[in-house]
Amino acid sequence: MSTHYSEYSMHTHTCGELTVDNIGEEVVLTGWVARRRDHGGLIFIDLRDRDGYTQCTFDPEYSGESFHTAEVVRPEWPVMISGKVRHRPAETENPNMATGEIEIEAKRLDVLNESRTPPFQLEDGIDTDELTRLRWRYVDIRRPEVLNALRLRSTITSAMRNALTKREFIEVETPILGLSTPEGARDFIVPARQNPGHFYALPQSPQLYKQLLMIGGIERYYQVARCFRDEDLRADRQPEFTQLDIEMAFVTQDDVMKLMEDVMAEVLEAVGETHEFPLPRISWHDAMNRFGSDRPDTRFGMELVDLSEIVAGCGFKVFSGALDNGGVVKAINAKGAGDWPRAQIDKLGDKAVSLGAKGMAWIAFASNGDVKSPIVKFLGDEVMDKLKAALDVEPGDLVMFGADKASVVNEVLGAMRLHMAEALGIPREGHSLLWVVDFPMFKYDEEEKRYAAEHHPFTRVADEDLDKIESDPLACGSYSYDIVMDGYEIGGGTIRIHQPELQMRVLKRIGMTEEQAREQFGFLLEALSLGAPPHGGIALGLDRVAMLLGAFQSIRDVIAFPKTSSGSDPMTGAPGEVSAKQLKEANISLRI
Ligand code: AMO
Ligand code: AMP
Repeated sequence: MSTHYSEYSMHTHTCGELTVDNIGEEVVLTGWVARRRDHGGLIFIDLRDRDGYTQCTFDPEYSGESFHTAEVVRPEWPVMISGKVRHRPAETENPNMATGEIEIEAKRLDVLNESRTPPFQLEDGIDTDELTRLRWRYVDIRRPEVLNALRLRSTITSAMRNALTKREFIEVETPILGLSTPEGARDFIVPARQNPGHFYALPQSPQLYKQLLMIGGIERYYQVARCFRDEDLRADRQPEFTQLDIEMAFVTQDDVMKLMEDVMAEVLEAVGETHEFPLPRISWHDAMNRFGSDRPDTRFGMELVDLSEIVAGCGFKVFSGALDNGGVVKAINAKGAGDWPRAQIDKLGDKAVSLGAKGMAWIAFASNGDVKSPIVKFLGDEVMDKLKAALDVEPGDLVMFGADKASVVNEVLGAMRLHMAEALGIPREGHSLLWVVDFPMFKYDEEEKRYAAEHHPFTRVADEDLDKIESDPLACGSYSYDIVMDGYEIGGGTIRIHQPELQMRVLKRIGMTEEQAREQFGFLLEALSLGAPPHGGIALGLDRVAMLLGAFQSIRDVIAFPKTSSGSDPMTGAPGEVSAKQLKEANISLRI
């Protein structure tokens, strides 16, 4: 992509745009010295800016004084080079470079600043560890692959903004210093100096504010919103991240989903990708049963197969025991692992146990027809035949079993499925987008010994289940939808509760007393009683979308200044200590 930002700068062209069409032109380029090669009589400088590289040649005959400057400049010095565009000598053309057919016959070299030797090589594909790169992130960003990741993110964000502005959405900013909104994580809190003992919470999302905007008549809201969640970090989780946050009034679930698909279609187009729409929908229940995950990667098979009926009554105690306790027996068939050595299969078993399984029975069908397994002896021919048919077994396959409560089996085999896809190098190309719908409204939180909302407590309970909120909460469905891409949850939303009575019932169901509900959510309950329209929305994780569209492994790659997994910033040293004076002003005394 050629940009034309020379209008407001010291240069006439970027380092990525000159071609044979410019031969003979006098140009001025600015950038950083990427490489300098001294060939005795001639000095070559590859000048780099955000757009690319251009070779500049210094010849003592032609450049005189500048030649001597070129002798002393070092990598990463910012310079300005003026000269004439000319054809490179035929044998020195570089077809791998956009500007590989030309060079600048440099006349003038202005040193704009000097630079210490950079802490690592500023090139693509380096293997410098991430901590070092983050410690000097500003120079890391000079590397084209990092810079392009940020550019990609910007392209995605502006496609989102365009898509929504075009559809008459209004962008509204909501407070960062606010009240706690529960999204299931811990809040970051900020002491309120003027109100000793009181704290603001940084928003886990703008959820309640956007609902209030619907009551305010905005009708179609969006915001590229920063969200803050104090939770354990992973490759796809940061303590602060960005959502494309959307809310709409007078809509059904289908309206919100259609809007999201239309926005995604424009985002994909902006980055040169396509996908078929409308997106497939899978119920939460089916996703869990078939893929063991509420964010299934459907780019490959290896689905979980329920063998409970087939193995019922077989002589293997582990299986019959699980079934007797109301559990299930399921398996996956990892094609291509049937010849793995015993030690390697045992490691898979260890992994399953680390994921919460009690063990992992297996049958290896070697390519030469041998069958190895600790359990076949208990199964009998009939069960084996049925099992092979159900799992489509061929020589070369490894079948792995889970026998336990359905939730444990699904989680373990779902994770093993992904692990095996990785281990076997099963191709997962292209992008797969889908909706997971019909989430249950509530789940039981074993730790806290109470019911909790599966999404958040502002989600509307399915009409047909309204009478079960008190009597059978786990049977209540909800109007909720997650959008999943390549095995990642990239967004989620719900239709909201818009009546105060229903909101109160749900808050009570998740363990609040009426007083607690009024104390924490009084403003919402009041707002719902002042003409709240039916409304719903969704939030897309912008970092995750950019990570997937850029084929990165971590959202850190699409964030300019990300935090490490311990939540710190190696560049600035944040989080840091504060002075005694600041603590005093905030009315805080430390216990450590
Ligand atoms: P939810 O909690 O599902 O919904 O968040 C929406 C999307 O935000 C992304 N996301 C994250 N990305 C990076 N780091 C994190 N720590 C992180 N946490 C979440 C995910 C997720 O799908 N208010 C509701 C939305 C709604 O109901 O409209 C909400 O925040 O991609
Ligand atoms: P055991 O009878 O405990 O020696 O187990 C026999 C086989 O069954 C071993 O391969 C175990 O790893 C496996 N196994 C044990 N418990 C389970 C379970 N809950 N699900 C699947 N396999 C299991």
